[in-house]
Amino acid sequence: MSKVKVGIIGATGYVGVELIRLLNAHPQVELSAIGSNSFVDKSITEVYPSVGIGNDMKCMKNEDVIKNSDLIFTALPHGVSEEFVLQAVKEGKKVVDLGADFRLKDEATFKEWYNVSFIDKKLHEEAVYGLCEHYKDEIKNAKVIANPGCYVTSISLPLMPLLKEKLIKKEGIVADSKSGVTGAGRGLTLLSHYPEINENMVPYKIGNHRHTPEIEQNLTDAAGEPVEIIFTPILAPMNRGILSTIYCDKAEGVTIEKIQNELDEFYKDKPFVDVLPLGQVATVKHVRLSNKCAISVHENKSKIIICSTIDNMVKGSAGQAIQNMNLMLGFDECEGLSTMATAF
Ligand SMILES: NC(=O)c1ccc[n+]([C@@H]2O[C@H](COP(=O)([O-])OP(=O)(O)OC[C@H]3O[C@@H](n4cnc5c(N)ncnc54)[C@H](OP(=O)(O)O)[C@@H]3O)[C@@H](O)[C@H]2O)c1
Repeated sequence: MSKVKVGIIGATGYVGVELIRLLNAHPQVELSAIGSNSFVDKSITEVYPSVGIGNDMKCMKNEDVIKNSDLIFTALPHGVSEEFVLQAVKEGKKVVDLGADFRLKDEATFKEWYNVSFIDKKLHEEAVYGLCEHYKDEIKNAKVIANPGCYVTSISLPLMPLLKEKLIKKEGIVADSKSGVTGAGRGLTLLSHYPEINENMVPYKIGNHRHTPEIEQNLTDAAGEPVEIIFTPILAPMNRGILSTIYCDKAEGVTIEKIQNELDEFYKDKPFVDVLPLGQVATVKHVRLSNKCAISVHENKSKIIICSTIDNMVKGSAGQAIQNMNLMLGFDECEGLSTMATAF
């Protein structure tokens, strides 16, 4: 059987090159085209020497990726993807967008947080939010997937089943999330400069990070009523990984065992979420380089404390995008995503 041709628009960014790494090992697809803005006609090894083995492809113009692929990943800054996605859909292609352009359903909220308007409102209505463990059936029939944000994935996965079953109170949820520096992309900033972040820990965008409305959209959908969250992102001196520590109140009469049971039950047949037994603690090493989310549950007085970890480059972006592609194309959900976490 011939392989499905997949292409990447924005292949030279951190997410793009992680897609190349993972797709290279996927048995059912052929990486047919990689696109760039700044590196057209350069081979990918000139940009990233480490990915060259057996795969020294040349970057083409982003626009040309569409005609050379059946399914396209767009890994671009917000506000840049929509034109490419529109063109791809017009040509009958499927798309997984890894940026924020299709994640928020409400245009006014999107405009408020990203300062960009929707171009094609119908396409936004049709796009499916790709949090695979929660929207699997919709994803299977989607033409366009909005791949979730990285912080959002780590916070939504543990909280959504608990809010749905009303095991935690919807008021007063707080999350702080430490992220590796690849989360900021390849472009240089003072904050990600080595002497600034090495041996350091830097909270940023306190009270106004753009993932806040996306987290609230998911939690509200699960709870069936509006949910707000206090969210603080923190840059940590590691290359990859996210640790979200989430604080919330147990609902009346609910025990930690009930919360643990609910998460065990909800995720028991979902291969990429590991709910650890009570007493264990989720760490970044549980998930590094894998498409897993590890969750551990703890308590202190009336509060439940949840630790949730993902690799921002895999479950937080490229891995979840491939999981979405697998569902859209009718492959096994785990195809090409069997990489285990590294022990060190
Ligand atoms: N990094 C993460 O952990 C992570 C996690 C989840 C989601 N995301 C999202 O994924 C997307 C890509 O992130 P990244 O970390 O890969 O960023 P990045 O390393 O900064 O790469 C950005 C890519 O976009 C291209 N690009 C920039 N401006 C462009 C323009 N005006 N027109 C066309 N192409 C343009 C660049 O192309 P050239 O190099 O060819 O110029 C590059 O390939 C972003 O929306 C980000 O929010 C990132």
